Amino acid sequence: MQKLIFATNNLHKLKEIQYLLQEKFNIISLEEIGIREDIPETADTLEENALQKARFIYQKTQSDCFADDTGLEVDSLGGAPGVYSARYAGENASFDDNMDKLIAALAGHENRRARFRTVIALIIKGDEYLFEGQVDGIILKERAGKDGFGYDPIFLPEGFEKSFAEMDPEQKNAISHRGRSVQKLVHFLEDFTGIN
Ligand code: IMP
Repeated sequence: MQKLIFATNNLHKLKEIQYLLQEKFNIISLEEIGIREDIPETADTLEENALQKARFIYQKTQSDCFADDTGLEVDSLGGAPGVYSARYAGENASFDDNMDKLIAALAGHENRRARFRTVIALIIKGDEYLFEGQVDGIILKERAGKDGFGYDPIFLPEGFEKSFAEMDPEQKNAISHRGRSVQKLVHFLEDFTGIN
């Protein structure tokens, strides 16, 4: 089976992708190949960050690999926190700190529209490909639900009456930014293996 390295230290994401690509690709973690250092993530767009991470691993291993990057883009804040979503309220900010900061930043704003966007960068046989998934929604004025992570309790996806933190994982994955970007990656890889 063809090997593909996933440049992440997030075990939850790793398991999700291993499940989706089982029987087709052998998805290898960074730990399995002994890469324990932090991968640089210094660009100011999701696309460049995802590429930066994938290129870093490709240069080290010369093996097919992919990386992802996600941000929450809020219209009335000019797209912030975007690529800085994980550290919106500071370098070691908790999910709660970030949500509190976002709720405060939107106080008094009528327009609460936002979207989660994920970009996956794949390097396969030396060529680079990008896959994007997004989900539109609004930022709630207070938290709803306890599941999920990050900004889930304050994100209400368009067309639904439950926040991401009130959905079970299957329901969230079916419509989420990450779920959609992964579906595109999986379709591409299925075609790619079909013709290669
Ligand atoms: P990452 O690039 O997947 O590590 O995501 C960066 C940051 O975006 C995370 O630290 C979270 O704050 C936020 N984020 C990413 N995906 C989600 C999600 O599915 N729900 C809520 N927040 C998310």
